[in-house]
Amino acid sequence: MLLSVENVTKVFGANRAVDRVSFGVERPAFIGIIGRSGAGKSTFLRMINRLTDATDGAIHFRGRNVLGLKGAEKRSWQSDCAMIFQQFNLVPRMDVVSNVLHGTLNRRSAFATFFNLYPTADIHRAIDILDRLGIAEQAPKRAEALSGGQQQRVAIARALMQDPQIILADEPIASLDPMNAQVVMDALRRIHEEDGRMVIANLHTLDTARRYCDRVIGMREGRIVFDGTPDQLTTGVARDIYGADETFSETATSTAIHHLDSPAEKSRAGVKVH
Ligand SMILES: Nc1ncnc2c1ncn2[C@@H]1O[C@H](COP(=O)(O)OP(=O)(O)OP(=O)(O)O)[C@@H](O)[C@H]1O
Ligand SMILES: [Mg+2]
Repeated sequence: MLLSVENVTKVFGANRAVDRVSFGVERPAFIGIIGRSGAGKSTFLRMINRLTDATDGAIHFRGRNVLGLKGAEKRSWQSDCAMIFQQFNLVPRMDVVSNVLHGTLNRRSAFATFFNLYPTADIHRAIDILDRLGIAEQAPKRAEALSGGQQQRVAIARALMQDPQIILADEPIASLDPMNAQVVMDALRRIHEEDGRMVIANLHTLDTARRYCDRVIGMREGRIVFDGTPDQLTTGVARDIYGADETFSETATSTAIHHLDSPAEKSRAGVKVH
């Protein structure tokens, strides 16, 4: 088992934000987590990354006892599972390439960090990664001068600088317009396919989950209420996940990305995606 999650629970006072969540992942997959606001999606991702301590349960990745890691081992784990956020979390006034180089912070000395010294090889690598994401020409600009979609790609580049085994993305496209949302999701999917990195993304729209994910996990009130393929995610199942009645409309949780040949579909059909 690559990743195993057993009875992971997070309690805030009387509120069980995440309630005995269990699932296993055999090989690097592109997993989407959906569910209404407050279902526990962000809390769950933050426990994997150890930004939040779990109240109970166990997480193992390649045999590593994730929830038991301390000190340097914990930091090493945090660089193995890079996190991407809805609000990009870049340093707005800093140039793009420096933002990307921040992805190497956890393995640099305090001295080098203080004086902003980066090895030339790292700078070249940062630019190569930006190039791969189609934004190399933005490298000298301040992060704040970029569009949302470009900023999120900088955040992905920063994550890749860590050479992570897992990319955890918390609503990575919730602040983007449909076109930029598609560019960012395409980039994540391509990284997953080309590098074999696992992606776990909290997604706020059903159609994105269906289009890009190999597997979708539905959460409701802290629990997993659905775990299956996009094909199994019918309107009825979705209604149940979101706790909606018959008036539930798929488009209410849907972005307006319209294109038929999704990367996930192409990938299932064995077509290489670029
Ligand atoms: N630091 C905290 N202290 C207390 N309660 C919290 C804290 N963080 C989250 N919660 C609560 O835990 C529950 C799950 O929150 P979480 O942010 O994980 O949900 P979510 O599924 O990510 O929602 P959204 O779609 O709005 O991002 C909610 O009831 C929330 O109020
Ligand atoms: Mg959230």
